[in-house]
Amino acid sequence: EKVKMDDIVSLCKRRGIIFPSSEIYNGFAGFYDYGPLGAELKKNVKDAWWKNFVTSREDVVGLDSSIIHNPTTWKSSGHLDGFSDPMVDCKETKLRYRADQLFASPIVLEENDETIGWVCVQEANDEDMVKDAKKMAKKMMKSTEHKEKKIQAFSFRDLTEVSEEEMAQIPSPGSGEPTLTMPRDFNLMFQTNVGAMSDASSVAYLRPETAQGIFINFKNALGTSRAKIPFGIAQIGKAFRNEITPRNFIFRSREFEQMEVEYFIPPGDDVWQPFHEKWMQESKEFLIDVGLREDLMGWDVHEGDGLAHYARACTDITFRFPFGTQELMGIAARGNFDLTQHSEGSGKALDYFDDQTKEKYIPHVIEPSLGVDRLILALICSAYAEDEVNGEKRNFLKFSPKIAPVKVAVLPLLKNKEELVSVARELYDELKKRWNVSWDATGAVGRRYRRQDEVGTPFCITIDFDTIEKDAGVTIRDRDTTEQIRLPMDEVIPYLSKQIDG
Ligand code: GAP
Repeated sequence: EKVKMDDIVSLCKRRGIIFPSSEIYNGFAGFYDYGPLGAELKKNVKDAWWKNFVTSREDVVGLDSSIIHNPTTWKSSGHLDGFSDPMVDCKETKLRYRADQLFASPIVLEENDETIGWVCVQEANDEDMVKDAKKMAKKMMKSTEHKEKKIQAFSFRDLTEVSEEEMAQIPSPGSGEPTLTMPRDFNLMFQTNVGAMSDASSVAYLRPETAQGIFINFKNALGTSRAKIPFGIAQIGKAFRNEITPRNFIFRSREFEQMEVEYFIPPGDDVWQPFHEKWMQESKEFLIDVGLREDLMGWDVHEGDGLAHYARACTDITFRFPFGTQELMGIAARGNFDLTQHSEGSGKALDYFDDQTKEKYIPHVIEPSLGVDRLILALICSAYAEDEVNGEKRNFLKFSPKIAPVKVAVLPLLKNKEELVSVARELYDELKKRWNVSWDATGAVGRRYRRQDEVGTPFCITIDFDTIEKDAGVTIRDRDTTEQIRLPMDEVIPYLSKQIDG
């Protein structure tokens, strides 16, 4: 029952959900394009989030800020100085790796507990890690006199914890020479130049998160919406990070989208916790509502070193992806770090006057932050299903009707029977006014059902001879159960609407 990443990547490509970017030029690592169905899926996911967290609430307003801000923004936010990952270079291949995702293990030989060197394995879950390490170790041993002896033990440590002496012992499989530089910080922000000059004064950055656009607009949003604390500002938009090792399809890419809320609350040591809890709960409910499998979800509470210096608390919602359990989203209590920094950096007081208590303060903030692309991958993994219909294997995507790229497919039984086609066409035109609907008139009906199943279309409507000769009804087939019901034509829209729009 375990989904394989390869199956998901190939389905996404084959059916026009996600393509590698710039494919005709052999792609571009860390960038992806959403195809006809993917664009629908992504839009539906963002709409569902916006409806849930913005328009259906009274205490959250929306924002759509520019992607490139005045570069001082990133000085104040701390990104210029601190938004980096530890990186190592391989001297031999010239490839770069994230040091905290590169694990090294000494090889201990079976005969006499002798350590002969180190192997490095890049980002992998435990099982894969050991497998890869064994392969690499064997290769390494071939180039030494230890050929016949058996490898005994592996104990992995990430490279940021390995000392310089140990690092010097990490030999390459080929030459046996040390291959890796010591870890050093690599800033993840993409740089560009704004204006005609391309000197230091024109340097600007593509935003690495949507959050800062919210903080710098705090006063604008507050002043124009007459909001009272507690209230939130939400934003959906592109973010860019020059990830050292983009990995796992759209899970970690260099261009992606975020959906973030900054929820402003009063200061105080015992104020933030209930708000934080509430956002964790509401985030989880939203994810389940759009179709995330609850049994694959988990919580990861950051503590100690895992907590950013400005954060009071941060809890991730994790998801069990085919390549391991990973962060899907974070819900952080950021104190008043950001507004304070921007107040100092800009010289403008980003504070709030509470007209009931007559107090003025810099609000604290709860920040639920969710990656659109990462959520889409988790939704595809959640929806990926296999069963048997009439003794034949079937692959299908069990998307919730709310996010399914195609809501309904209209299938006239025969494509060359004008009476059937025109009735079907009329229904199709009517449905198209409301939803993204597919028209499929070619091939056996069973084959057409399978095509729709594979992209997760929840309903197929067949127009047959009974429709025009007998009952003016249609057959609606349910994707998951494959069961069919017969409905009079004028009940079709109310029936579908209930299932799709909720
Ligand atoms: N404003 C807080 C913030 O940006 P983050 O943990 O760096 O926090 C939040 O990012 C979310 O954005 C992640 O949980 C993930 O869903 C998504 N995300 C971050 N980096 C990503 C990447 N390189 N590719 C895809 N999604 C990413």
